[in-house]
Amino acid sequence: MNVLIIGSGGREHALAWAIARSPELDHLICAPGNGGIAEVAECAALEIGDNGAVTRFCRERGIDLVVIGPEAPLANGLADALEEAGIAVFGPGREAARLESSKRFTKDLCRQYDIPTARFESFDNAEAAKAYILEQGAPIVIKADGLAAGKGVILASTEQEALAAIDDMFAGAFGTAGHEVVIEEYLTGEEASFFALTDGETVLPLATAQDHKRVGDGDTGLNTGGMGAYSPAPVMDEAMCQRVMDEIILPTVEAMKAAGTPYKGVLFAGLMITAEGPSLIEYNARFGDPECQALMMRLDSDLLPVLKAVADGKLAGRELSWKSEPALTVVMATTGYPGAYENNSEIRNLEAAMADPNVEIFHAGTKRENGRLLANGGRVLNVTALGDTVRYAQTRAYMAIEQIDWPQGFCRHDIGWRAVNREQANGR
Ligand code: AMP
Ligand code: GLY
Repeated sequence: MNVLIIGSGGREHALAWAIARSPELDHLICAPGNGGIAEVAECAALEIGDNGAVTRFCRERGIDLVVIGPEAPLANGLADALEEAGIAVFGPGREAARLESSKRFTKDLCRQYDIPTARFESFDNAEAAKAYILEQGAPIVIKADGLAAGKGVILASTEQEALAAIDDMFAGAFGTAGHEVVIEEYLTGEEASFFALTDGETVLPLATAQDHKRVGDGDTGLNTGGMGAYSPAPVMDEAMCQRVMDEIILPTVEAMKAAGTPYKGVLFAGLMITAEGPSLIEYNARFGDPECQALMMRLDSDLLPVLKAVADGKLAGRELSWKSEPALTVVMATTGYPGAYENNSEIRNLEAAMADPNVEIFHAGTKRENGRLLANGGRVLNVTALGDTVRYAQTRAYMAIEQIDWPQGFCRHDIGWRAVNREQANGR
C-alpha cells in the first residue's frame, strides 16, 4: 500500500512510525512532515489546504490511503474531495467533522439523543447570553462555537468574568468562531480522553489517555496544545469504558449515520468523569496530540490494515491488541511557548536519549539543515516511554530528557502526577 499522511506534528510522527512497521506498506509519504518524520517517510512539500492539489498528488503518486492528522483539513473538506476522487481516506468528511468544528452541533446532538453532557444553551446575541448568565450564576463556562485552536473556552469563576467573556467574543476576540456562543454548566470531576475507531457502522474502542493542558508544573499557567500525556487513564476502568461506549460513543455513531453523514475515522471524546458518571465535554475528529504518541507506543498490532478498513467501511471483525504497560510522553517546547518563541535553535544528542529501547522520541516542530537538527515550532519533541507502571515510564522519559542537549527547550517536570499519586496510594 502507498500511504500519504497529512500533518507535521508529533501525532503524525507517531502515526508514521506505527505505519512504517507494517508489512502491508510499500511507500510512505508525509506532507508536509518534519525533521523526525523524514527518517521514516518521504516528506513532500504539498499545500495541504488545497484539496485539489492533494488529490492530484495522490493520483500522480498512486496513493492507496490518505491518513489525515489535524482538524483543519477535515473541516476544509479534504476527506470529501478525496472520496469523490475515489481515493481511500482515514478521517471524516466536513459534515461529520462538525462534531469537532461546531460545539453547538455537538451539544444539540447530545440533547437530541440524550447523551450525557453539561447543561447548556446557545446564543447568537450578547444580550440574551448575558441574561442567561445572570440567571444561572457562576461558576459557568463560555465557549466560542467554532474552531479556536483550543483557546475559545472561558471557565468563568464569577459572573463579571462571564459577562466580560461574552463582550470579548461578540467583539470578535476569536474571529467568526465567537459569533455564536455556547454557555454551559461548570462540571467538576477528573478529565479523561477516550478514543475509538469507526467506519460509520462498526465501532472499535482503542484506548484511554490523560493530557496536561497547562504550560506549568502543577497545572498552572497558560493553556497549550498539550504538554504531556499518558495512556491508559487509571480513572477509566473497564466499567467506565463500557459506560462511555454505551452512553456516548455508540449513540453518537448511530446519530451521525441516521443524519446521513456517517462518521469515519477516530472519535476522540474529551470527558469529565463526574460523581454521576461520564459527561462529554467535547469531541475531536482526529487523534489527540500528544495523546496519540502514548497510544502508538502501546499498540501491539499492525495499525495500517485497520486504518484502511475504517476507510473502506470494513471495520467489522477487526481487532487491535495493546501492551498492558502504560506509556507516557513528555513534550519539550521552545522557551516562550505558548507565547512568542524563536526558531532555529540546535538540538543535540537525541541518539543517546533514545538508547533505551523503551524510549521513542517523536518530533513535532523540528527540521534538518546541513545535518543539524533545529527547533522549528512551539512544541518540538515528544519523549515517550513505556514502563511497568506510569512511575517507571515517567522515570524513563525524564532520564532520556536529561540526555538531550537543547538549552532553549523546556518541559513540565510532573507529567503523569495524577496517575503516579494513584499508584503510590495503591502501593505500586
Ligand atoms: P474544550 O476546548 O471544550 O475541551 O475545553 C477546554 C477545557 O476546558 C477542557 O479540557 C476542560 O478542562 C475545561 N472545560 C470545558 N468545558 C467544561 C465544563 N463544562 N466544566 C468544567 N470544565 C470544562
Ligand atoms: N491534546 C489535546 C488535543 O489534541 O486536542
